[in-house]
Amino acid sequence: MLDKLQEMQSRAIAELQSVKNLEELEALRIRYLGKKGELTAILRGMGSLSPEQRPLVGQMANRVREELEDKLAVQSRLLKKQEQEQRLVQEKIDVTLPGTALPSGRLHPLSQVTRQIEDIFLGLGFAIAEGPEVELDYYNFEALNLPKDHPARDMQDTFFFGPEVLLRTHTSPVQVRTMESMAPRLPVKIIAPGKVYRRDDDATHSPMFHQVEGLLVDTRVTFAELRGVLQVFAEEMFGPHTKTRFRPSFFPFTEPSAEVDISCVMCGGSGCRVCSHTGWLEILGCGMVHPRVLEMSGYDAAKVTGFAFGMGVERIAMLKYGIDDLRLLFENDLRFLRQF
Ligand code: PHE
Repeated sequence: MLDKLQEMQSRAIAELQSVKNLEELEALRIRYLGKKGELTAILRGMGSLSPEQRPLVGQMANRVREELEDKLAVQSRLLKKQEQEQRLVQEKIDVTLPGTALPSGRLHPLSQVTRQIEDIFLGLGFAIAEGPEVELDYYNFEALNLPKDHPARDMQDTFFFGPEVLLRTHTSPVQVRTMESMAPRLPVKIIAPGKVYRRDDDATHSPMFHQVEGLLVDTRVTFAELRGVLQVFAEEMFGPHTKTRFRPSFFPFTEPSAEVDISCVMCGGSGCRVCSHTGWLEILGCGMVHPRVLEMSGYDAAKVTGFAFGMGVERIAMLKYGIDDLRLLFENDLRFLRQF
């Protein structure tokens, strides 16, 4: 048996020299060392050996296996290297060819306009605040001076989840949440951008849309300051020649309240189709924070005053870019979106 092993080893080593690739090498390994290979076949004869011979043959078999495995490994490394070098010569890659261009994305016009609005107010010292879109009746209505049976609730057709839980109809609840968490510290100076929801759906209304709320509470905040801030905003957003006009209005959470118009972005004020020949375009609602709202949020209405405003981002975007159908903003048609 020792002879057989020796003979097998020399034969395997001889064959190893003529192996040309990795597949042949693997076939050779299986033929000699595999589970059903020659070594196993030889060792099957161990049963007929005497107890003294067995360890000798066993040791020899192990040595033969180890030596062959070593030689196979060396040969395998060599062949791998050869194949790699061959590939390097054969496969020519032209590294000067242009690559596949990945089309670069861009921000949706609504994101662009939101960021512009944020930039303008950040520049005026406002911080950005956020709040939940699923809101409590208390924050969306009650704490804004809109008790349960108040008729002004009808202005905001609401999606309710239950008697006390709803999709916020405006970003004004963020006013309340911010004041609540800050009281009695001053000043409160935030804008709150975000999604809001109302049961509305046509060319100028979407059940989901975006607003930016603004709030400034401090010891001597006046309506004149509100006018100044919004005038700066209008000029930055729509150009230096933009005029503003404040019309009396009503919101339960501000007193006095106003609706703000800008001079028409199309005709500059002389009257055209876009402004229905009035020369003015409505862009937001605002007013002085109602004392009751200040009190409910933890501020002393005898000592502090505040102003608030709220604008629709879609409306600002439509006016700025001359978009005549709000739905275009939500259809994700690239032919439309690529224009911004
Ligand atoms: N929350 C009001 C709306 O959505 C807008 C507004 C905000 C008005 C703040 C006044 C002050 O209609």
